[in-house]
This record gives sequence, C-alpha cells and structure tokens, in this order.
Amino acid sequence: MSANKLTEFMAKTKLITGSGCVKQLKDEVNNREYNTMLIVTDKGIRNSGILEKIETILQSTSIETLIYDEVKPNPTVTATNEAYILFKDKGIKSILAVGGGSVIDSAKALAVLFANGGSIADYFGFDIYGNDPIPLFAIPTTVGTGSEGGHAAVITEDHVELKTKKLVFGETLFPKVAFLDGELLQGMPGSLVASTGMDALTHAIEGYVSRNGSVITDALNLHAVRVIGASILEAVGNTENVEAMNKMVQASCSTGIGMANGGLGLVHGISHAIGAQYDAPHGIVNAILLPYVLEFNWIADPYKFAQIGEALRVNTWGMTVEDAAKAAVEKVKELTREVGIPDKLSAIGVDKQNIDVLTDIACKDELYMIPNPRKATRQDIYNILESAI
Ligand SMILES: [Fe+2]
Repeated sequence: MSANKLTEFMAKTKLITGSGCVKQLKDEVNNREYNTMLIVTDKGIRNSGILEKIETILQSTSIETLIYDEVKPNPTVTATNEAYILFKDKGIKSILAVGGGSVIDSAKALAVLFANGGSIADYFGFDIYGNDPIPLFAIPTTVGTGSEGGHAAVITEDHVELKTKKLVFGETLFPKVAFLDGELLQGMPGSLVASTGMDALTHAIEGYVSRNGSVITDALNLHAVRVIGASILEAVGNTENVEAMNKMVQASCSTGIGMANGGLGLVHGISHAIGAQYDAPHGIVNAILLPYVLEFNWIADPYKFAQIGEALRVNTWGMTVEDAAKAAVEKVKELTREVGIPDKLSAIGVDKQNIDVLTDIACKDELYMIPNPRKATRQDIYNILESAI
C-alpha cells in the first residue's frame, strides 16, 4: 500500500448488526416495490432451520416469496443460468440471499440477470451490465464470505474447456442491506466456522498487504485480523458463544469491504484455480495455502507482516522487524492447525498431476497477481503449489 496511490473506495450496503438483528428484515423489505421476492439459499440452510426462521419473519410482511434452494459450492455459469430460466417469468422484483459466499454470489448474479437477461457469462468484468441489478438483501450464514458488503460475484466458467473462476463487478451490485446476526449463526458446525473464519483471516491479511490498498482499507483489514485472531478459537470451540460469533461475522464483513476495495493476492489467485478445477471448498483451500504464500510474501513488506503478528498477539517485544514478520507467519500456521485444517492440499484431493494447469491459471489471473505484495513468477507459483500439495 502506498498512500500516494490513486484509489477509489465504495461501501454502499446498510449493515445491521448484533444478536437478533435479523428481525429488522421485516421493516427493511416491507415495501410493495420488492414484491415478489426470491429467496436464494441452499439445502444446508433449509435443513438447519435458519430458512424457517426467515420465512416466519417474512410472514408478517406483505411480501410474497419464492424459494430457490439449489445453490451448490463454487456456483457455475450453467447453474446460475438454469436458476434464472426457472424464475424469469415469475415477476421477481427483489432477492434475499440466505447463506454463505456461494449463495450470496449466486444471488448477486441472479439480480443482474433479472434486470438484464442473457447468460451471466455476458457480464464478466467491471460494470458490463446495462440495467441496475434488482434490489438484493443478504443474510450471511457463515463467518467468511464478506460478499454481503461487496460488489462482486464469483462464478465458475464451466461451459469452456478450461474451467476458471470469473468475477462480475458493478457499482450497483452491493446488497442494499445485510444483516450480521451472530445469534442466527449459533450452533453451526465448528468445522464451518473454522474454514470460513480462516477465509476471512485470509481476506484480512491479503487485503492488508495488498498493493492496491489505502489507509482506509488497512483500517478495515488490520482490525479484522485482530478480532478474528482473538475470536476464532472460541468460536470454533463453541459455536453457541454468541459474542464470538457476532465478532466473527462482523470482522468478516469488515474485511469483505476491505477486499472489495483494496483487492487480495496470491492465495486467492491459486485457490480460485483449485476451486474451479477440483470444485474444492474455498475456505479450506485458502487456509491451507495461506502459510505457504505468506512465507513467500513476507520479505516484500516485513513491517506490515510484523504488524499482522502484533495483531495476532504474537509477543514481538525485542524482535527485529524481520523476526516479527516471520513470527506472524508461524502464528498463522499455528492457528490453521488449531482450528483443525490440514496442512497439505493432498488431504483434500489435490494432486501434483495438475500442477502445471493450476500454475498457468493462477499466473494469468491479474486480479490477484497485481495486488500481491511480492512479484511472483510462474516458477514461484509452481514452487508454492509444489510445497502446498
Ligand atoms: Fe475468499
């Protein structure tokens, strides 16, 4: 980050926070303009009972709802277009996303399609669509997406020979309102807090050391490192701990706004390649890759890495900046281990056979290569993957 660099900052989502805040949904959506509303979610949320709670709240409004609960992890062009075709003649005027990153991103993509038609693949890039997306509301049910506060949707291009993840961006793609309710998240599986929480930590660290950041995104990211570092073990250990869950979901959103404006780095570049090729869980891939990428990156900005160490409560007293930076990398490794995430990609089925393809995809992804603090060659990315697999 250089404060001299030209940057833009946008945050357009009204954020409602705190235990039980999801009840405010009633007042926020009770408007004839939003009728009929499509609830976008997945089977896990339906089975968890969360969807039922949301439906009960909506019953006290004049809003009629339809439900699409078929979202799968790593949403594709095909699945998104199929969902659009299913509902395009139903008079959908607004969308409520209830779920994690895949659900919120699918909902954003559908909001674009309901206003513009066609295939979501027509809108990859920045502000490509002509009409503003239909109004979108978001209730994150994980602690890692950050998508509820941002203006991008990640969709896998599955209709081409080489599958990659692409982004639809838009100044008007921010959800109107997001509800960050730790009480709603109580009782979710600890393993899901671990994987999505480590994704949030990845956003915060990659965002903080991004070359496209500013003092403003630094504030959103570094404090998120501090809050996640202090809360993630308690939250994973006992997801009934509502204070820890509220802190995690708010920190995730804070860094979500940070990443939407300041960008990410190589962890996401490589993990998007893996996610598209292997349909692997985003949070776990990131968490595994994070220490390997940090080991590569820290020499480009030791001072900021030392600050990450301090934010993670490493005792850096008396250390050189370089030693403090290395201690930060070790602390991240320790956290990954403590939340129960494996330290090798082979544990989740990634094999060395595909290493060249993954390297090539990651290298071409300028969205992540450019903001990464250390300039990486193809060989560097190959080496990171080789160590991590
Ligand atoms: Fe992520």
